[in-house]
Amino acid sequence: MRAKTRTAILISGRGSNMVAIAKTAQAQTDYPANIALVISNRPEAAGLYKADAMRIPALAIDHKDFETREDFENELHAALLAHEIEFVVCAGFMRVLTAGFVEKWQNRIINIHPSLLPKYKGLNTHARAIAAKDKEHGCTVHWVSEGVDEGGIIEQARLNILPGDTADSLAERLLPLEQALYPKALIKALNTNIIDS
Ligand code: GAR
Repeated sequence: MRAKTRTAILISGRGSNMVAIAKTAQAQTDYPANIALVISNRPEAAGLYKADAMRIPALAIDHKDFETREDFENELHAALLAHEIEFVVCAGFMRVLTAGFVEKWQNRIINIHPSLLPKYKGLNTHARAIAAKDKEHGCTVHWVSEGVDEGGIIEQARLNILPGDTADSLAERLLPLEQALYPKALIKALNTNIIDS
C-alpha cells in the first residue's frame, strides 16, 4: 500500500478547514494524507491551539519577524523540509506567496478560496457576489500557481444566494460546504499523477 503523504496545513486564524481535514485524516484509516504539521503566520491564531489539541505539531512563523517576503518564505520552506513535508494545503492562509516559493512546491500545493473561481479572486468575495446580484456563490479548491487564485480548479461547491443574504450570512452558510469539500478535494489532488511530475 502507498505510504500516506506527509502534509502540512498553512493557516492564519480560526483553522476550521484545517480541523475538518485533520479530523477526516485521523478518522479514516485509508485517508491518503497524514497531517504532519500545521503552520500559522500569526502566532495568536486559534487554529494553532486546535492543532495542538489534535496532537499535530503546530508552529508559528510570524511574517512580521522578517524584513522581506522571501526571508519569511525561506523560513517557511526550511520548516516544511525539516518536517519532511511532501504536500502543502493552504486553508485560510492569508499571505500571498511569491513565484519563487510556488515554484519550489509546484503541483504540491493547493488552496481553498471562498468564491466560484474564476469569479472574485482576492478579498471580500461574499460581498462582491451579493453586489453583483449573483444567484449562486461557492468555494473552490485549486492548485496554487504564480497568479493569485489562478491555478487549475480541483473541486467546487456551490449554494444559492438567498434574498436578504449579507456577506456574513453567506460566509456562515458557505463554511460547512468548504469543510466538506476540502478533505475530498485533497484526496483528488493527491490522486492526480502530476505530483510526481
Ligand atoms: C475560509 O472561508 C477560506 O475559504 C478563506 O478563509 C477562511 C478561513 O477559515 N480563505 C481565503 O479567503 C483565502 N483567500 P478557517 O480558518 O476557519 O478555515
